[in-house]
Amino acid sequence: MDSQTVYSLTGVSRVYGDVAALNNADLTIHKGEWLSIVGPSGSGKTTLMNILGCMDTPTSGTVLLDGERLDRQGERELAIIRRRRIGLIFQKFHLIKHLTALENVMVAQYYHSMPDEGEAHAALERVGMGSRATHLPREMSGGEQQRVCIARALINSPSVVLADEPTGNLDEANEQIVLDLFHRLHDEGTTLVVVTHDAMVASQGQRQVILNHGRIADVVETEDYVRAFGTSTAVSTGSAAAAAADGEGESR
Ligand SMILES: Nc1ncnc2c1ncn2[C@@H]1O[C@H](COP(=O)(O)OP(=O)(O)OP(=O)(O)O)[C@@H](O)[C@H]1O
Ligand SMILES: [Mg+2]
Repeated sequence: MDSQTVYSLTGVSRVYGDVAALNNADLTIHKGEWLSIVGPSGSGKTTLMNILGCMDTPTSGTVLLDGERLDRQGERELAIIRRRRIGLIFQKFHLIKHLTALENVMVAQYYHSMPDEGEAHAALERVGMGSRATHLPREMSGGEQQRVCIARALINSPSVVLADEPTGNLDEANEQIVLDLFHRLHDEGTTLVVVTHDAMVASQGQRQVILNHGRIADVVETEDYVRAFGTSTAVSTGSAAAAAADGEGESR
């Protein structure tokens, strides 16, 4: 593993009963890369994100984050790794109902280090939510809640940001605010992994991983990706991509 690698997954599977939600995935994610993950509903996107985000461990296979084995860690250790290095943005916002926008951000600071009201306020300003700091989640629109969720994810300056359908509930204007933020993070060197159903959002990434029935059916690299990281050796074959397009990928 070279210093440019953030995640390295080898033969990673996550099985639920007789369903392989993720099936023998090999994937390298580079430092500073913006990676999009796409695929039909039930194809394993969230399952993969949960493993990257230290919220789940694979049934088999190895997962390295900055060279450290994640698949062998217990929940406590995973929580510490997550807190220190990873910012999570969920489709369902998971804001604490009875806390204001500002307090929701400060809870994340508390788990990382020390709550700092000025810093939390600045994070809300950054997502255009400074004037809503004292509002409760129920007093905010979906787009506003998502922006608070993003402020919370970014408060500890994580080196990796994982976003599962971050724009799924947003109108065009809010979607643009989120994408502008992602571009800024990317320019600053943050590694971004974004799950999306939206082709426009997916196209913002440097590379797209296409999942189908838990398998990586195809990997599409942009010129920008190749310039930055060279061509991946793990790109799956055209026949797998064709099978995915035909809807005849591996059955689970
Ligand atoms: N906790 C669980 N228990 C049992 N099966 C699960 C569990 N989580 C996911 N699955 C199954 O694993 C498969 C992949 O699920 P996953 O949530 O990763 O899909 P997804 O690509 O994120 O879909 P969506 O686009 O709808 O969010 C699905 O068949 C799902 O039913
Ligand atoms: Mg999902």
